[in-house]
Amino acid sequence: MKVLGIESTAHTLGLGIVSDEEILANQKDMFEPEEGGIHPRKAAEHHYQHAMELLHNVEQEADMEINELDGIAFAQGPGIPQCLDIGAVIARTLSDKHGIPMVGINHCLAHISIGIRTTDAEDPTTLYLSGGNSQILDLRSGRYRIVGETLDIALGNALDKLGRKMGYPHPGGPELEQLAEETEEIVELSYPIKGMDLSFSGLVTETQRKIGDVDDELLANSFQEHAYAAVVEALERAMAQEGSEEALLTGGVAMNSRLREMVEKMCEQRGAEAYVPPPEYCMDNGVMIAEQGRLEMKAGRETKLEDSEKRPNWRPDEVDVEW
Ligand code: ATP
Ligand code: FE2
Repeated sequence: MKVLGIESTAHTLGLGIVSDEEILANQKDMFEPEEGGIHPRKAAEHHYQHAMELLHNVEQEADMEINELDGIAFAQGPGIPQCLDIGAVIARTLSDKHGIPMVGINHCLAHISIGIRTTDAEDPTTLYLSGGNSQILDLRSGRYRIVGETLDIALGNALDKLGRKMGYPHPGGPELEQLAEETEEIVELSYPIKGMDLSFSGLVTETQRKIGDVDDELLANSFQEHAYAAVVEALERAMAQEGSEEALLTGGVAMNSRLREMVEKMCEQRGAEAYVPPPEYCMDNGVMIAEQGRLEMKAGRETKLEDSEKRPNWRPDEVDVEW
């Protein structure tokens, strides 16, 4: 079975094709704001302007044409409404033109499935940290339960906000990582954990107030140490509660080497395994949507035109795991 996946939940437009045997194509183009965060309309404009080009590129890379596909998967949610519309329109158009069934995918579940496909993980507790989402997910009684999550903003968003306040370009995550590597010292900040949930906006404000009084390197390192220790502690609690022996770290923030190190160390101490997909499959991408579509279509799922409306607030625990 060959499936095309279309990702357009936020600033990345990604198209990918997978078959049962291999990953056949992975193309993407990212909207990069000149200043500030993601502007929904501008991101959506970027996506429709690049759609045709990416479509040609995936056909070329996979050495096949759209009409040879068995399915078309698109990220139906959660995400920015204006951006979700673009992916859904591409899917409906291709599905109708070529008579190929389509399936609407939950973006968070796709991160888990591509993680399982590209690592040795089988039944992991997932720590998914990106610009728009921060969740800990675990499969229990046929659904991926959200066993912990941010109560306000996502961790990637917190890093980007702080980076911006400190005068660094978007995205802030990698900028802060580089700064943090310059020092081993930290200043004390509050610890953003509440049971197995997290909260980052207070930590951003607290750190932001110290800009100018404390060196950027020290601020960056302090923010990272507090925020990452908190997410790893929440992950550890979740793993203990679920009796889990595998952790899967994914989302754009999984690119951070200090965070990876903390997750690996925690797993080592518990006798568990830590898995991180290759970078191109941690960040948002079309391949993960294609993989999730492949799994769901094999399990007999299909989304009819009348059910293909975007779902901006779609939570992953609303989906029955039948694959
Ligand atoms: P989603 O739609 O899943 O919320 P997204 O649009 O935020 O995803 P991703 O590519 O998954 O896109 O993640 C981007 C985030 O990852 C940004 O907030 C960025 O700062 C963060 N990030 C990228 N690299 C690093 C790094 N090395 N350290 C920390 N954060 C990073
Ligand atoms: Fe994502």
